[in-house]
Amino acid sequence: MGSIYGKNVKISVFGESHGQGIGVVIDNIKSGLFIDDEFIKSQMDRRRPGKNKFSTKRKEMDEYEILSGVFNGRTTGLPLCAFIRNKNNKSRDYSNIKDVFRPSHADFTGYIRYDGFNDYRGSGHFSGRLTAPIVFAGSIAKLILKEKNINIKSHIKRIKNIKDVSYMDMENIKKDIKEVDFPVIDYDVYTKMKEEIDIARNKEDSIGGVVEVCIENIDAGIGDPIFETIEGRLAKGIFAIPGVKGLEFGMGFSLADYYGSEVNDEYDYKDNNVITKTNNNGGILGGITNGMPVIFSVALKPTPSISKEQNTINKDNQNVKLKTYGRHDPCIVPRACVVLEAITAITILDILYGY
Ligand SMILES: Cc1cc2nc3c(=O)[nH]c(=O)nc-3n(C[C@H](O)[C@H](O)[C@H](O)COP(=O)(O)O)c2cc1C
Repeated sequence: MGSIYGKNVKISVFGESHGQGIGVVIDNIKSGLFIDDEFIKSQMDRRRPGKNKFSTKRKEMDEYEILSGVFNGRTTGLPLCAFIRNKNNKSRDYSNIKDVFRPSHADFTGYIRYDGFNDYRGSGHFSGRLTAPIVFAGSIAKLILKEKNINIKSHIKRIKNIKDVSYMDMENIKKDIKEVDFPVIDYDVYTKMKEEIDIARNKEDSIGGVVEVCIENIDAGIGDPIFETIEGRLAKGIFAIPGVKGLEFGMGFSLADYYGSEVNDEYDYKDNNVITKTNNNGGILGGITNGMPVIFSVALKPTPSISKEQNTINKDNQNVKLKTYGRHDPCIVPRACVVLEAITAITILDILYGY
């Protein structure tokens, strides 16, 4: 089964975009955790569609119902099931993709894999909407990690050639983010990035970008070589998020451009702590955390569904033209931030529960 994730804390994500609803069952969560609805709702809100012109016009409140695993406001330690009912599903928006495969979406691969029985409406189980239950589970994971002082944050690092500053500079980790729905550290790039998205939207097109994630206050010594590295474990979670096509830790690919003497993270013993003067390896060495913040960047592709005409094929293998209508984000990057934080939190909690 592809929709069950985790070894110690297991999550099972279910549902389709235009079915009854979507949800998650979380197994092996500790008992007694206070369900902080205000916090969970704030996280769900960061992903929720229809809030502004940069996201899809599909208005879903993403209200969750907790069906099991919570009693008197605290977790029981037994399977926690949250259900989010679909309320705003206009399946007619998808009638033109019933028999035609959208370029770069999962229509063709899903059709082949499930012999044409998959629910294509609203992209079915492949929809970005399935990230809502992941954000719910991530909020629970964040609440538990908070007790251990571990904090997970993210910002939009790049939209086209407009770049925010990076968490690779430790000073930036401390800075507050003004606008949670469009998180950037250097507020000067805020409007410029939004303009780039607007340009794509006005051309009936879409645009991608890069999100940078930071795990603060994670102890040294977490992770195992050879097949349980922190990079490997995180990669599995991060690539579960639709639209993700690239991942790099620390300086990532650009490390290949330098001499070792230029990029090796030199150690320093300061205030009774082992630190490194730089964090070019993104806080991970030998697959194990070194006590520095864990930092990685995630590349998201442009939203596949665009109303600009494109070449494709239909189910009879005929070459056809397609314009995709319906309600699609011109850029999924702002809403993906909290989703990437959520899957990171779930993964780190899963690893820590194994210790
Ligand atoms: C939060 C979020 C929202 C998304 N919204 C849309 C959307 O409105 N339209 C669309 O075509 N793709 C959307 N996607 C991306 C597709 O789901 C994804 O590209 C598709 O399932 C194919 O998977 P892949 O890109 O990982 O190969 C969204 C992804 C995320 C994370």
